[in-house]
Amino acid sequence: MSAAEPLVLAIDQGTSATKAILVDRRGDIVAHGSVPLELSTPAPGWVEQSAEEIWAGCARAVAACLDGRDASRVAAIGLSTQRESLLLWDRATGEPLSPLISWLDKRTAGDPALLRAVPRAELVREVSGLPLDPMFSAPKAAWLLDRYDPDRRRSRAGELCLGTVDSWLLFKLGGAHLIEVGNAARTQLLDVRRCAWDRRLTQIFDVPLEVLPQVVPSQGPFPSTRGLAPLADGVPVTAVLGDSHAALFAHAGWTPGTVKATYGTGSSVMAVVPSAARVSSGLCLTVAWQTGGNPTWAVEGNVRSTGATVNWLAGVLGRGPAELAELAADSSEGVVVVPAFGGLGAPWWDENAVGLISGLTLGTRAGHLARAALESIAFQVEDVVAAVERETGPVTRLLADGGPTGNPVLMRLQADTSGRLVERALARDLSALGAAHLAGLTRGVWDRAALERLDRPRESYAPGGDETTRARRLAHWHTAVRRARLQPT
Ligand code: G3P
Repeated sequence: MSAAEPLVLAIDQGTSATKAILVDRRGDIVAHGSVPLELSTPAPGWVEQSAEEIWAGCARAVAACLDGRDASRVAAIGLSTQRESLLLWDRATGEPLSPLISWLDKRTAGDPALLRAVPRAELVREVSGLPLDPMFSAPKAAWLLDRYDPDRRRSRAGELCLGTVDSWLLFKLGGAHLIEVGNAARTQLLDVRRCAWDRRLTQIFDVPLEVLPQVVPSQGPFPSTRGLAPLADGVPVTAVLGDSHAALFAHAGWTPGTVKATYGTGSSVMAVVPSAARVSSGLCLTVAWQTGGNPTWAVEGNVRSTGATVNWLAGVLGRGPAELAELAADSSEGVVVVPAFGGLGAPWWDENAVGLISGLTLGTRAGHLARAALESIAFQVEDVVAAVERETGPVTRLLADGGPTGNPVLMRLQADTSGRLVERALARDLSALGAAHLAGLTRGVWDRAALERLDRPRESYAPGGDETTRARRLAHWHTAVRRARLQPT
């Protein structure tokens, strides 16, 4: 490390792009690099990405971020990654045997591995903290092994490696087969309380322990860099976090009572909880991070379609997504969009729910639909925040981040719908920032007190409207949700 002020580099490997940021001692982002990432859909419900492209994208994002900078000032690296997505590679050659099966992929919905798990669904939920769902890694692991190692011989012999994106990047960086505990908690193979692989879960999904990575706390130890130009070899990776967990960390959501919502294609609502007690309310229990030897648990609810709803309706109306907010009328005039494209996530977890638009009249115009699409985001996020509140006690403010939060109409709607103060983070790339914050803490770039003092600029939206109107609007939304969930007779 040079004598100049140290910098922290963070990489956020996400579904649609890999971003790299450089953070100075004050916590300011002083450089960015971003490389887009392709998704391929080779069959209905299948969503894949190229593992090699992901690694190459990381290297390019880092190079773009450090372009014109003194790379020797980078004291530590933090990594935040998309979660649940899974791939298989050959331990000896390091060659991927499969593409990365995305968290968005639904191929395992009717797969024998998932069906086999159905009678044990309660046990799976209790031990892993997660409901059975094709989104999580366990059914993907079974699917991959059924194709590439049907008798599990190579897995048991230690010839193969299964891994999430953090595992893959750590393997490419330093050759070790590891997984950070928060990412492991989203595989559905981890005992979320013991923070260790669970034999009952690995047996249910027929995944030999030998093919799984070693579970490591969020501050490591992780390998140092190797061949990641322009960085010299040996720069330590000192933090790894799941992307949603990293955003919560960047919001300083370290203690119960602080709830964050990350808005993207879908949305993740997350809050730290005091203990790993049993969770109801349709939320997942997960490990937020493990620092200083102690795991911190969180509850999380994933809404499947938020930004995706806006993109979809904009496409249908022949507009750009940004235009939809301008088009939105002041009221939806009773129109409700329930964006259950492929079912509903938290807090309903209903695969059979169907997307619907209710309340259409001959007076319905594009502006009412646009308004209803935006409202569906606010309603869905509020349903999860209310579920979090049932677990953690009163939630008076909601910390928001992600691209769609740049839309003031949506933020005002969220505050009015929730009856809570909404505080939107002005920094972009909150997941990367969270990884940088933890990496800098591990490396001693800042201590805990300095971390707490780092500037976190926010824009506030106070709730408007009265309780009666809010309750009436929510009741109207819930009626439409019940319609979307009606089973065919
Ligand atoms: O759970 C999936 C999530 O981690 C993906 O996040 O930002 O890549 O859409 P993102």
